[in-house]
Parts: sequence; C-alpha cells; structure tokens
Amino acid sequence: MLIGVPKEIKNHEYRIGLTPAAVKEFVTHGHRVMVETNGGLAIGFTDEMYEAAGASIAATPEAIFAEAEMIVKVKEPQPDECKMLRKGQTLYTYLHLAPDPTQTELLVESGATCIAYETVTDDRGGLPLLAPMSEVAGRMSVQAGAHYLEIAHGGSGTLLGGVPGVAPGKVLVIGGGVVGTNAAKMALGLGADVTILDRSLPRLRQLDDIFNGRIKTVFSTVDAIEHYSSKADLVVGAVLIPGAAAPKLLNREQIRAMKPGSVLVDVAIDQGGCFETSKATTHQDPVYTVDEVVHYCVANMPGGVARTSTMALNNATLPFGLALANKGPAQAMLDDPHLMAGLNVHEGKVTYKAVVDALGEQLDLTYVPAADALRG
Ligand SMILES: NC(=O)c1ccc[n+]([C@@H]2O[C@H](COP(=O)([O-])OP(=O)(O)OC[C@H]3O[C@@H](n4cnc5c(N)ncnc54)[C@H](O)[C@@H]3O)[C@@H](O)[C@H]2O)c1
Repeated sequence: MLIGVPKEIKNHEYRIGLTPAAVKEFVTHGHRVMVETNGGLAIGFTDEMYEAAGASIAATPEAIFAEAEMIVKVKEPQPDECKMLRKGQTLYTYLHLAPDPTQTELLVESGATCIAYETVTDDRGGLPLLAPMSEVAGRMSVQAGAHYLEIAHGGSGTLLGGVPGVAPGKVLVIGGGVVGTNAAKMALGLGADVTILDRSLPRLRQLDDIFNGRIKTVFSTVDAIEHYSSKADLVVGAVLIPGAAAPKLLNREQIRAMKPGSVLVDVAIDQGGCFETSKATTHQDPVYTVDEVVHYCVANMPGGVARTSTMALNNATLPFGLALANKGPAQAMLDDPHLMAGLNVHEGKVTYKAVVDALGEQLDLTYVPAADALRG
C-alpha cells in the first residue's frame, strides 16, 4: 500500500502522523511511504531521516493526497485537506466529529474511509489511541502547575517538594483515570503531598494498590472537593464522564476560598472544563488569574511536547496502521471489532452512532453500522 503523511497544517501543531521509526516498520512490511517535506522538522525528524527509513519526500500536500491510498495524520483534517480526500482512500487520524458539523459533512462528501483514533477500543473497555495523550497531559499537568507556582509566574512561591524542614506542597487530583494517575505519579516523584479523588470505588482501590499507600485516596463528594481544594497548592482537574461535558466540580465561591497564588490545571478543558471559571487557553498564552488563583487551561496540552507526544502516539497507532495496510482497510476492520469501532465515515455513510446522535438532524444523516457499510 502507498501511505501518505502530510505536514500538519493546524495552527501551532508540530506533531506528525508517522515517526521515521514507524515509516521503517511500514517499509519493512513491503509498503511505500511518502512524507511531506519538512513534515517533522520542528520536532527533530528531518527529511534525511525519513529517507533513511525508506520514505520518499513529497514537495506538496496535493501530491500526497493525490497518490496515497492511506493518509496518516494527527489532527482532524482541515477543510482544504477534506476536499482532497476521495473514495477508495483511507484517512487514519483523530477526528472528533460529534461537535464538528463542517468536517463531518466534508468527510461524508469525500466518499473516503475515515477512521478516528479516539474511538478505537480495546478489550478492557479503554480507548488505546487516546490513552497516550492522556498520559502526556497528566504528566505535564504537574510540570505546568509547579512552574506557575513560582512567584515570578503568578504563583504563591511554593516548591511542591518542599525541603528538609519545610513541608511539601499539597496537590489535589480530581479524577483518578489515566490523566489523574499520571499526574499523581509526577507529583509524588517531586515529593509533593498528593490526594486523589474519584467517584469509582474500584478505581480508588486500584490506586491505593498502585501507590502502595503513598498517596491519599478519597471518595469524591462535594464536601471532599471543597475541603481538599481549600488546602491545596495545586489542583488538577482530570475527570471524564464518557460522551458528556465535564461536570463543574468547583464553583466560583469555592475557588475564591482557595489559597492566594494556588494553581488550577484544568486538563478536562477539552470537554468544557471542570471548574466554573475555566476557559480554554493556548500554549502561546496558557494562564490567567481569577480571584488570585492561577488558571492553566490549555486544550491541547500534548501539542506542547510534540516530540514525545508523536512518539507516544505512534507506539499506539502503529499496530492498527500496519493491520490496515497489510490486510487492506475493510478486511482489517472486519477482522478486529476494536479497530472497526474506529470507523466513523465510510463511502458517504456515517458509521459511528454518537456522531449521528449529535448531528443527524442538522445534516440529515442516517446511522449505518460499520460492518454493514464495509460489506457494502
Ligand atoms: N487538555 C488536554 O490536552 C487533554 C489531553 C488528554 C486528555 N484530556 C482530558 O482529560 C480528561 C480525563 O481523561 P482520562 O483519559 O484520564 O479519562 P479516564 O476516563 O481515564 O478518567 C476519568 C476519571 O474521572 C472520574 N470521575 C468522573 N466523575 C468524577 C467526579 N465527579 N469526581 C471525581 N472523579 C470523577 C472517573 O471515575 C474516572 O476514573 C478528559 O476530559 C480528557 O478529554 C485533556
């Protein structure tokens, strides 16, 4: 199969669909790969590295979209990219269609086979192509929080690890899933005093086992959130209710009652945020202050560490990508229900129910189960 990797064109997106190492895997399996010139340059992957891995370098995105049978990307295709897609071509990338009628309409019109990383599943009920980005964001949240606790960055001047003779800073993590666990690991590594809240008792039991009693696990109630946030130096918002907007767990009054110079990192901002005063920010301007509490609400945190994120994403996407190339997309999906769960649009039919639930009326869409669409 001929695989095409265009340079990402979304503002300040430096990740790329395939690393040179991933290209080498495809080439070793007998496939050809075209990479757009300078596609990975910003994160240290030069054209020479891609050529050494066996790729050819294309001068323009048009050349890639015109020739490749499968396009591998990171972010959802922008309108100009959607218009270059065609029937018989496969798109393998993050899509996030439910809140995006324009993209959905363009992908339906294209006739292409569009597989969304974020809806591929695994047999433990997880989302294996979303998890690496949650790991990255969770780990970054504490790094960002520690930075903004410094007095020159608007914080209270607290060192999370403390020093001998001075108590460590207090970190509260709300939500103990992938983001929360990774945040807790980093905070613990810095020597902070860490508390995780979650509403799932089985999850709290797992966390207690993982951390062997070195963090406090507390059942998440309104009272617990109010109590622990008023004492915290750093609060990480890491909750998720699948398919729903994030619940607002701290209101303005509770935020006003926090310590001056404390920091809120709302990782759940991509789902609307879990603090009343949260509004999405960017890596160019990541923080603002409300009632003397610093807010960090970057909606695409992994983009800030694009090199690590690209490698982490490739580790997760590569096995499915190879299956798509080796067997052909339709057979690969019919053989693997978890990969088939990633199919959102196929030859003009929407095959992911949540997208039809969100946009069906507006765009006059009918849901077609993925297996039916693939079998034609
Ligand atoms: N900003 C970014 O760049 C970025 C990057 C990755 C993930 N995210 C977001 O981070 C959030 C967390 O993702 P995840 O992968 O860790 O999800 P996850 O499903 O692994 O974990 C979410 C956890 O929240 C818990 N929870 C739900 N309601 C709660 C409540 N009221 N109180 C306490 N805990 C509650 C759940 O029990 C679960 O353990 C999501 O909104 C995700 O979209 C953001």
